[in-house]
Amino acid sequence: MPKKIVITKLGGPEVLEYVDYDLESKILDNDVRIKQTSIGLNYIDTYHRSGIYPLPTKLPVCPGLEASGEVIELGKNVSRFKIGDRVCYASVPIGAYCEIRDFSTSNLIKIPDSISNDTAASILLQGMTVEYLFERLYQIKKDEYILFHAAAGGVGLIACQWAKSIGCKMIGTVSTNEKGELAKANGCSFIINYKSENVVEKVKEITNNIGVPVVFDGVGKDTFNISLECLSLRGLMVSFGQSSGMVPQVDLHKTFNPKSLYYTRPTLMHYNSNREELENSSNTLFNKIINKEIKGNITKIFDLKEASKAHLKLQSRTTTGSIILKT
Ligand SMILES: NC(=O)c1ccc[n+]([C@@H]2O[C@H](COP(=O)([O-])OP(=O)(O)OC[C@H]3O[C@@H](n4cnc5c(N)ncnc54)[C@H](OP(=O)(O)O)[C@@H]3O)[C@@H](O)[C@H]2O)c1
Repeated sequence: MPKKIVITKLGGPEVLEYVDYDLESKILDNDVRIKQTSIGLNYIDTYHRSGIYPLPTKLPVCPGLEASGEVIELGKNVSRFKIGDRVCYASVPIGAYCEIRDFSTSNLIKIPDSISNDTAASILLQGMTVEYLFERLYQIKKDEYILFHAAAGGVGLIACQWAKSIGCKMIGTVSTNEKGELAKANGCSFIINYKSENVVEKVKEITNNIGVPVVFDGVGKDTFNISLECLSLRGLMVSFGQSSGMVPQVDLHKTFNPKSLYYTRPTLMHYNSNREELENSSNTLFNKIINKEIKGNITKIFDLKEASKAHLKLQSRTTTGSIILKT
């Protein structure tokens, strides 16, 4: 019998259970059956588990949005894929933390020959996130300063490399000097340790008192006000996550009027909302990997059954780069 992880009730990492399950006897016409080898761990999985983000179905539910593996069976309408294809996905519906899964071909991608299953599962969601943040939501430019929080995290280390490939001067925040060294080695131009340094003062110093035109903030509650203070006139606040907790409600006028700021709260699924966007986004990422502008940064591998341990580690703030679960 195959095994999967389920969220039994909302709460801490301990609510994740490793259980047996039955496969559907018949695959839907537009689905393929995937024998999964690697599953990407993402911060959003902890929001689903704790209830910060609502779950689409009743409990118990299998979490996870990203995995890779091999096609082992085809629905009767499937022509784009064949048995044996190596494939990956980074999209809803949730349910990636399992050994075998049926998945619609509409959000499925073939993995290029030179990219391993582990790399694909570790980088697709975080890498396509950087693609839409840096190429479509706001197009970062050569020699421009940008501020990016948690620069040594999964999304962060990809952002460091992406910014470097464009010649953009990324200012990255981190909580330890070791994380700072790693972000720098991945291409981040300036590092600020937000535990020991004043971020606003440092950003002013680096940018000649002008501030940055854009802040990419995935930390949320703890950095929201700092981010706004670091922006230049008419700057853009991109609030794309909340690893430290939800941003409290704000007074719109007091918050954005003093510098005529812009604000957006984007989601990957809305930037890859159809097949064309998904293919363009994944191809841009894969080409950057193939051209060696971006490399995977898997820093921890857990067995699927250790998902609870993996969540605890990710939320302990001691990880860098990407984490995968292996079946
Ligand atoms: N909107 C989207 O489309 C989208 C897509 C993907 C990811 N995201 C978001 O991007 C962010 C990064 O995701 P990720 O998977 O790559 O995670 P990650 O950056 O590897 O891990 C989160 C990092 O946040 C920092 N952090 C600051 N305060 C924290 C706290 N109180 N507790 C825990 N961590 C804290 C830590 O770095 P330091 O120790 O250096 O502070 C930690 O390593 C998350 O907020 C995620 O939800 C958004």
